[in-house]
Amino acid sequence: PKITYVFPDGSQKEVDVPCGQTVMDGSVRNNLPGIVAECGGSCSCATCHVYVDPDSLACFDEPTHEERELLEFADGLQENSRLSCQLVLTEICEGVRVTVADGNG
Ligand code: FES
Repeated sequence: PKITYVFPDGSQKEVDVPCGQTVMDGSVRNNLPGIVAECGGSCSCATCHVYVDPDSLACFDEPTHEERELLEFADGLQENSRLSCQLVLTEICEGVRVTVADGNG
């Protein structure tokens, strides 16, 4: 599905990410800025924090207990905060927009 990444400076980039990959994979593999993903996607660093557009939240599985706990350490936590390495893409994610959190670094 095509995913739009919005950066803290307001610029954005749309990329096509294969199903089965995560929102984090789509960023890292396309060398997009802002998602550091220090732990490589094992839900233990919180440097892959994004805000999912509220309309799109339902495209993804509910956060696990581990993800919720880790998000507590993320700067700028919001209602629609997610860890992008936990957001696995499927066909229904076409057109999803995520905003990269400022402060993943
Ligand atoms: Fe470390 Fe997502 S990449 S928690």
